[in-house]
Amino acid sequence: MKVAILGFGTVGVGVYEMLEKCPGLEPGPVLVRKGKEDKPFKVSSIEQIVNDPEVGAVAEVMGGIEPANSYVAAALKAGKHVVTSNKALVAAHGIELAELARASGVSFLFSAACGGGVPFLHNLAIAAQSDEILFLGGILNGTTNFMLDAMQSEGKDYGDVLKQAQALGYAEADPTADVSGLDALRKIMLACAVAYNKLPVDGFSREGIESITAADVADFQAKGLTCRLITSGGPAGESVYAYVEPVLFPASSPECSVVKNFNMAKYNGQNAGAIVLMGQGAGRYPTASAVVRDLCGLGSLEMLRPECVKVRADNAGCAHAYYVRVDADKAGRLPFAESKADGASVRGVTAPMAVPEMHAIANEIRQEGGSIFFAAMEA
Ligand code: HSE
Repeated sequence: MKVAILGFGTVGVGVYEMLEKCPGLEPGPVLVRKGKEDKPFKVSSIEQIVNDPEVGAVAEVMGGIEPANSYVAAALKAGKHVVTSNKALVAAHGIELAELARASGVSFLFSAACGGGVPFLHNLAIAAQSDEILFLGGILNGTTNFMLDAMQSEGKDYGDVLKQAQALGYAEADPTADVSGLDALRKIMLACAVAYNKLPVDGFSREGIESITAADVADFQAKGLTCRLITSGGPAGESVYAYVEPVLFPASSPECSVVKNFNMAKYNGQNAGAIVLMGQGAGRYPTASAVVRDLCGLGSLEMLRPECVKVRADNAGCAHAYYVRVDADKAGRLPFAESKADGASVRGVTAPMAVPEMHAIANEIRQEGGSIFFAAMEA
């Protein structure tokens, strides 16, 4: 089958190279920007792809919501299977695109949108058909894991490690999506849709790694703790919970062994028990491998089922104790179980508190111009 590729950046080049060697698949036309058609296989008009009867599938790896959404919709209406790595697109329009795919009798798959090379959504889609998924999540952003690992194991500076992650092709076009936790949040949105037929679209709690300082790292490392950015999702009554926040783990936790750009995706099945999948969560070939894996599974898997609906996330029932560093004059807002003064700040650990409450207090303090870093203590 001939596969057209939309976008020829980090992942697109990897997909093209893999398709050249993949039995049963071959690279077709590649959509690039006007003026960039420097090879015969490169085209700049989507019509040349959707009207090409030889193209059986389209791999969308251009990113962004528009024009990717219009192009994917056009390809599905023209009866082409679509595989995408674009989590922003699936989070925003996945339900509608899956409906178009069903109407045309083709597949719409997006394993590459979550976990890079790790077959998380692929396995989740299969597991959800036969088991009750009790929990899902884990380390789902390669850029921030790479950054946290380098800061904690090599004492590197935040700005330097961000530049390195960008140079290695791990970060999103706008790396704010990575460091703010938005990229990881989009991934848990997709995972909830696949596992629970509920796509949470608002009501989230999201904290990234932008507030962590070298002094924070030194303080929690002295206590034997390691920080990872953790994404959590699961059932919550008629809805789902879905949130992202830094978490501190003791040295014995498996999360501490997840280094560089690796992801650790987890789900817990009522019957299967805990399933953990580890691998490279970002980068050219890991992500391209997930795109090609989906292309090899066309017709055998449905990731967004007809019953999938949009919901508001409900995190009210989730609670943790939190490690917090906060300006001394704001410390009274936190229910500290233990704390100590550290210059102009207070550091300590709170009594267990609801996730939305912790996030709301931090947002309030920042809006007032204050400074705070918080991370959940692993239960
Ligand atoms: N920017 C993403 C990450 C790419 O770092 O995980 C893979 O989704």
